[in-house]
Amino acid sequence: MARRPLEDSFAADMKDGILKYGGVQEGEEHLDEFIAKVKYHAMNFDDAVGYDQLNELLHKIDEEHGTKGNRLFYLATAPEYFADIIDHLGEKGMAKPKEGKVRAIIEKPFGHDLASARALNDNINTVFDEQQIFRIDHYLGKETVQNVLVFRFANGIFEPIWNRNYIDHVEITAAESIGIEGRGPFYEKAGALRDVVQNHVMELLSFVAMEPPVSFEADAVRGEKVKVWRAIKPIPVEDTVRGQYGPGMIGRESVKGYREEERVDPNSVTETFAAVKLEIENWRWAGVPFYIRAGKRLAKRTTEVTVVFKQPPMRLFNQTEGAPCDEIQPNLITMRIQPDEGISLRFGAKVPSTGMSVCPVVMDFNYAAAFGTSSANGYERLLLDAMLGDATLFAHRDGVEATWALYTPVLEAWAKSPAKDFPNYASGTWGPAASDELMRRDGREWQRL
Ligand code: BG6
Repeated sequence: MARRPLEDSFAADMKDGILKYGGVQEGEEHLDEFIAKVKYHAMNFDDAVGYDQLNELLHKIDEEHGTKGNRLFYLATAPEYFADIIDHLGEKGMAKPKEGKVRAIIEKPFGHDLASARALNDNINTVFDEQQIFRIDHYLGKETVQNVLVFRFANGIFEPIWNRNYIDHVEITAAESIGIEGRGPFYEKAGALRDVVQNHVMELLSFVAMEPPVSFEADAVRGEKVKVWRAIKPIPVEDTVRGQYGPGMIGRESVKGYREEERVDPNSVTETFAAVKLEIENWRWAGVPFYIRAGKRLAKRTTEVTVVFKQPPMRLFNQTEGAPCDEIQPNLITMRIQPDEGISLRFGAKVPSTGMSVCPVVMDFNYAAAFGTSSANGYERLLLDAMLGDATLFAHRDGVEATWALYTPVLEAWAKSPAKDFPNYASGTWGPAASDELMRRDGREWQRL
């Protein structure tokens, strides 16, 4: 259901989409059978009669296909309609019918600060029980994100060193080379912190930092994630960096700056880059900084987590003159979330020669080489999980509010003193100088990606 009158074309468009993006070939089993069942219902989201008609249509489908009242409402609308749609579903008795399982997927953005996220949660919870709600974050559907948990908890050798005794710091980068792709009005209100950091990056961080859950069940996993977010110290504004891209080069293409994008205020102070230093104050992580950064129009598209280990307690080997590298480098575990999916371990190896020079070498696991498949984009898995009622990879109310509680003060501080130096990085670079400074003042540098 949606507002535009697409009754005649929707099913055909859906088929085109599946053929183009779904990895399905024309003529494949079940495709046409599935498409023949696709129905489209045009209505305005505030039209009470429209919901009656939708309800009727769904009952008719139950009769024809034996779907027994099971429903999955997927709210992928602009967020301002969420509350209205939910209220109407509640009023019409569609959220808790006598027969069938009803669930609702809510797309992001889930609120734009703590107060709005709470209000939305309150609103949803008056209509749906928490077990019926699936707040989607497509990062959790990514194979490589889920593999962070497998890497840590299905192997015995990493977890003993996964703590403050061995780890110097952790870096998380979610870099995109694309700009805002025509989404000016949305992005103007969002910015990088709301669009990507509060949700995708924090989900990733929770998998890197959480304690082992007692089982891989929704309550156990989500409970451990919330503990991590709640243990993060309030973020001083000095530990945050914001940036906005100016014109520049992405590969060989020259691209315009954010303020020149369509439907963007020419004096916009919306950030397209954010970097933050976080401290998780718990037994495992106290004293280990987590540096995170996310932005658009950066030098390349890559999402990575790098765990940087402490150096050995003393230097036993000296580089001999003419060694092919300068200094002994720390061990790294790098989890490449996308696009070159894999995990690598960097360690020092003896350079073959009469001396004892040590240079970094890398052991690499590459998804495509190991498993021969490219991983799904995340949504397939998540939609299936929602149909099956498994909320493990969906956000819980408490989690959403915990991450907003962390970032709302930062957003408020930023709003109070709008950036004066925007645009402060050229497209195709790694963001503003202040992002490097955030690490340099701690005697560290971002890994070169
Ligand atoms: C979306 C953001 O949630 O995530 C986009 O709204 C961003 O701005 C996208 O580009 C990134 O997702 P992915 O899967 O391409 O890393």
